[in-house]
Amino acid sequence: MNTKSQIAVFPGSFDPFTNGHIDIVERSLKIFDKVHIAILENMTKNTLFTSQERIDLIREIYSDKPERVVVDSFGGLLVDYVNQVDSTIIIRGLRATSDYDYEAQMALMNRQLRGEIETLFMMTREKNSYISSTLVKQVAPFGGDVSGLVHPVIENALKERYSELHK
Ligand code: PNS
Repeated sequence: MNTKSQIAVFPGSFDPFTNGHIDIVERSLKIFDKVHIAILENMTKNTLFTSQERIDLIREIYSDKPERVVVDSFGGLLVDYVNQVDSTIIIRGLRATSDYDYEAQMALMNRQLRGEIETLFMMTREKNSYISSTLVKQVAPFGGDVSGLVHPVIENALKERYSELHK
């Protein structure tokens, strides 16, 4: 019997985490014992939330499942992080064919770097297929309703952040 817990890594920028991401985590938890949400640490990219803020917000969303959802950040190569946490699985969500080229490049590069790592793609639910962090950031600063796109924890954080920025 394989008693080792099956860990999957769900990496991303998550600036901010959306309902599309929530859906992927929920479905991954049906397959894996544990999901590590791995946030890419701020490098050159200008982000709305710092990596620590993103960690705190996502942890709040999963505060009822600390043993199954680990929220972490990583710098450097994703494959090294996956290795460090004793996993061989990367999960990515696919919304539309337009995601394919970028995702295929990353999956092939990661396989080139570490052959034992598999990338699993999950199709997002139709209702989430148009949601992206970028779109949320285009709507939220102007007071547009993002309640159907993000968790209330993120919605409040967006309101606060944009009201600070508009001061
Ligand atoms: O949410 P995003 O921005 O599409 O996520 C991209 C992410 C974080 C998965 C990707 O940029 C990444 O893995 N960066 C770490 C550097 C790395 O390992 N690159 C090699 C794969 S191309």
